[in-house]
Amino acid sequence: MVRVKLRFAGGLQVVFSDRERALRQVEELAERGTHKPVLIYGPEGCGKTALLRQAFEILKEWGYGVIYYSPAEWAGGRLLTTEDLRELARGVAEVLNLPAAVLDKLLELAARAVRLGRGRVAVLLDDVFQAVGVDRAEHLVKALLNFIEYPPRDYERVVVLAASSEGTTRRRVGRHRWAELRVMWNMPRAGFGELLSQIPPPKPDLDTAWRLTGGNPDLAGELAAGGWDVGWAVAKIAAERRIRELAASLSQRQRAVLQEALEDPDAVEKHMAEEGAEALKLVEALVDRNLIIDWLPEREGRLWIDEPPPERDPVIGVGKSFAWQTPLHREAVRKALTP
Ligand SMILES: Nc1ncnc2c1ncn2[C@@H]1O[C@H](COP(=O)(O)OP(=O)(O)OP(=O)(O)O)[C@@H](O)[C@H]1O
Ligand SMILES: [Mg+2]
Repeated sequence: MVRVKLRFAGGLQVVFSDRERALRQVEELAERGTHKPVLIYGPEGCGKTALLRQAFEILKEWGYGVIYYSPAEWAGGRLLTTEDLRELARGVAEVLNLPAAVLDKLLELAARAVRLGRGRVAVLLDDVFQAVGVDRAEHLVKALLNFIEYPPRDYERVVVLAASSEGTTRRRVGRHRWAELRVMWNMPRAGFGELLSQIPPPKPDLDTAWRLTGGNPDLAGELAAGGWDVGWAVAKIAAERRIRELAASLSQRQRAVLQEALEDPDAVEKHMAEEGAEALKLVEALVDRNLIIDWLPEREGRLWIDEPPPERDPVIGVGKSFAWQTPLHREAVRKALTP
């Protein structure tokens, strides 16, 4: 299997590392096709785009005509197709700057490929829910399902994958039968080590890098580009997520709950069940700022893409159903709570 080259922070290029289980899972999907759109949710920067890029290559090797679309990408990389679909894709390229129009066109393109007798077609969508908005996201997922269930003509296999870090659509789409939800986590430790070995020195050892990033490749890139200046990285997260403002708005009780969550993220859930509204507001504020994730499912393999994190890992801030996005997100909150 060809491993794709990926852009990494600081102008570096890296080779797609690890994710062995995820790659096997993509191959299984290629072998069977997807009977529903598969929606992959994961924390920011965990490697969703990288995985879709690698999936593109795998599906191509499996004889699929592949369409990849990511509205967040730079213009040249926003729409990628395999060679066989390039001619058909011209119509889409014309409306590339209008996400809503593009998605209709993309489905049309996939349908035309099927109609013209292309037996294997794959549609990979990256970050489209944010671009089209929550309401249209539901509609889009239904349209993708319709494409699979009511194709314009018989096909051999279709694969539809979409990736997002956006929590609201996860809740909205999750209540329908229209899609299969999977969760992807940051990289497992050994795999993260493989990525770290591609970053030139000076850099910390694996143990230190792991304790800082929890295996989040994007954060590793940020740190590497910033000369592994941890204080700066924490301050940057605090500024971006407006953590001081959050800390100032907390009640005495919420502060205590948050303090507890620094040691055990699941504590927030426990308080939510016991105390209701106040704790719930705290969770909303933390989720809204992308500091914690409140939707880790059971560690049942089929609910996950790649290896799930352990049920509890205090070192990197992972709990059963709640987790800090990365250890440095937790550090930024800890700092704001410390007088
Ligand atoms: N398996 C991997 N091997 C090597 N590099 C990786 C891997 N996964 C991710 N990266 C790199 O880490 C960085 C973040 O990954 P990526 O952009 O795929 O995350 P993401 O989950 O799509 O983030 P976002 O939520 O912001 O869309 C990128 O520079 C990417 O190239
Ligand atoms: Mg991405």
